Amino acid sequence: MTYPDREQLQIFLDVAAIAAQTAGTVLQSFWGNLKNIQEKGRSGDLVTEADKASEAVILDVLHRHVPDHGILTEESGSLGDTSSKYLWAIDPLDGTTNYAHQYPFSAVSIGLLIDGVPSVGAVFDPFHDELYCAAKGLGATCNGLPIQVSSISELSHSLLVTGFAYDRRETPDNNYAEFCHFTHLTQGVRRSGSASIDLAHVACGRLDGYWERGLSPWDIAAGIVLVQEAKGVVTAYDRSPLQINSGRILATNGQLHEKMSQELEKVRQQREQGV
Ligand code: IPD
Ligand code: CA
Ligand code: CA
Repeated sequence: MTYPDREQLQIFLDVAAIAAQTAGTVLQSFWGNLKNIQEKGRSGDLVTEADKASEAVILDVLHRHVPDHGILTEESGSLGDTSSKYLWAIDPLDGTTNYAHQYPFSAVSIGLLIDGVPSVGAVFDPFHDELYCAAKGLGATCNGLPIQVSSISELSHSLLVTGFAYDRRETPDNNYAEFCHFTHLTQGVRRSGSASIDLAHVACGRLDGYWERGLSPWDIAAGIVLVQEAKGVVTAYDRSPLQINSGRILATNGQLHEKMSQELEKVRQQREQGV
């Protein structure tokens, strides 16, 4: 089987966009009315009936349009034909902690990996009514208008974003040192609580760079395509090709990529030396 052509990619993107928007209306319907907020094991890692209901409508859309594709979701794990060249990576509610606290900053994130490569992505932020879409070679849009990364080239002029994984209490490699380091070097570092929105905001130039560890494929699959198609750069911290299962990502406007990578390496070395 060959790589899908532009027309086929657009069809997959339309499926992702419809699923993300439908799930967004589900998130709006549960807003402020949650009855069931549970911890999934790790302290602070929450799941609610909104996560599950959102996931159910996404799966319904995918089963109708692409029944032979593999699926990986945050709440259900692997589904369907996992040997398929197509794997959908889905976070039905990215920003559950925000949502559970009625802090209006969460999204639906739907990415499609083709032969393991993030190739299609839709991120829908129902609280700002923003639908971000991208597919390989087709560009990136927000609500149908083309988007592009920023042109900031100095860390001292930049606004960055990051996040902290649920294992942060158990590991010294918890990103706290990196957060402090970049806070000194830049105009600010934000922590939004939604990795997919962080990537979308790098893609549209509101933010200049994003790094994080401890992520899952469903957090970043869609956002990676957004940043790449908005002419940004996405790699591992050391600028080697991103392995989506590694959990670590560096996504920037390109201009800041080498600088951010070098600063991350400095912090890594300091931690190893016990500084
Ligand atoms: C989380 C968010 C957050 C990131 C965490 C993720 P969830 O996803 O994307 O920004 O820092 O690592 O797990 O649990 O809200 O779907
Ligand atoms: Ca997530
Ligand atoms: Ca989630």
